[in-house]
Amino acid sequence: MKKVLSGIQPSGKLTLGNYIGALRNFVKLQHEHLCNFMVVDLHAITVPQDPAALREQSEQVAALFVAAGIDPAKANVYLQSHVLQHAQLGWILTTLTAMGELERMTQFKDKSAGKESVGAGLFVYPSLMAADILVYNADLVPVGDDQKQHLELTRDLAGRFNSRFGEYFTIPEPYIPEVGARIMSLDDASKKMSKSNPNPGSYISLLDSPADIRKKISRATTDSGSEVRFDRENKPEVSNLISIYSQCAEIPVAEVERLYEGKMYGAFKKDLAEVVVGLIEPLQQRYREIRETGEIFDILKQGAERASEMAEQTLSDVQRMMGFITK
Ligand code: TYM
Repeated sequence: MKKVLSGIQPSGKLTLGNYIGALRNFVKLQHEHLCNFMVVDLHAITVPQDPAALREQSEQVAALFVAAGIDPAKANVYLQSHVLQHAQLGWILTTLTAMGELERMTQFKDKSAGKESVGAGLFVYPSLMAADILVYNADLVPVGDDQKQHLELTRDLAGRFNSRFGEYFTIPEPYIPEVGARIMSLDDASKKMSKSNPNPGSYISLLDSPADIRKKISRATTDSGSEVRFDRENKPEVSNLISIYSQCAEIPVAEVERLYEGKMYGAFKKDLAEVVVGLIEPLQQRYREIRETGEIFDILKQGAERASEMAEQTLSDVQRMMGFITK
């Protein structure tokens, strides 16, 4: 049994990209491993958040975890801010991180580009993420492709700690799906599908109505050809839609190509919309039930209690190894 940790930011609605790249793998991994899945509210505030919106979105994302199939009896579901050791180890790891390493992070470069004032939290974001992972000595971290660089830094920090203070941290491995690790925007296949894109037509939210999902998919950009063929280089938009189909229907890419041989884009998109709606509708039904009962607050409380126990052990070990006088 391995230890698994991952997190998702409560910054806006979760997209089909989050689901395919991360959330569905959380659900798969819970059956065989010791899993911790959290809503990373401390990371969300590295950019300004409206307090009421942050609260609503944190509850929303936690409820979506459960609606997507995470069983709170199998995996811990909680809020990052409820397990204080994340921030404490985050500070410690910040002191082991070089400015140059943080300056090289593409996510930091993207999020700070063109801004007059950039919060220091955004800069040290990756050290906190490393703490999220290392505080449980996680072996596996299920994430999409865009988190690879943060994972590399986490591995470097774990190694650095081990060589300076003694072997302690496990060097974590990313768990990145082969297909679907980078779902692209529906209007521009050179950008990843993102909840922060100002054009809602560019992404599918897990809470979009079936009518909106159908409309968005029918309007998704395609090339001027007609072949439903996977070719990332020459047909990036169609390839993205094929990836989505393959992941949502759980069939290989080659099988999708075979199904639509000789068929037009219109027919393919129509079926794709039904595949996505078929996946999302039952999830939304469960989501509504969970929100109505208010059960998520108990789930979060229990998840945080269990996670804190593991995290406290690591934090006190680390503090002792570094020369802190522990309680
Ligand atoms: P976040 O909230 O941006 O995204 C959550 C997860 O969804 C994946 N993802 C995608 N996968 C495929 N295609 C896409 N278009 C797409 N967009 C997002 C992300 O790769 C991610 O796995 N820094 C993290 C949150 C975090 C974390 C952690 C993750 C904080 N601490 C510790 C793992 C371990 C983030 O901003 O993810």
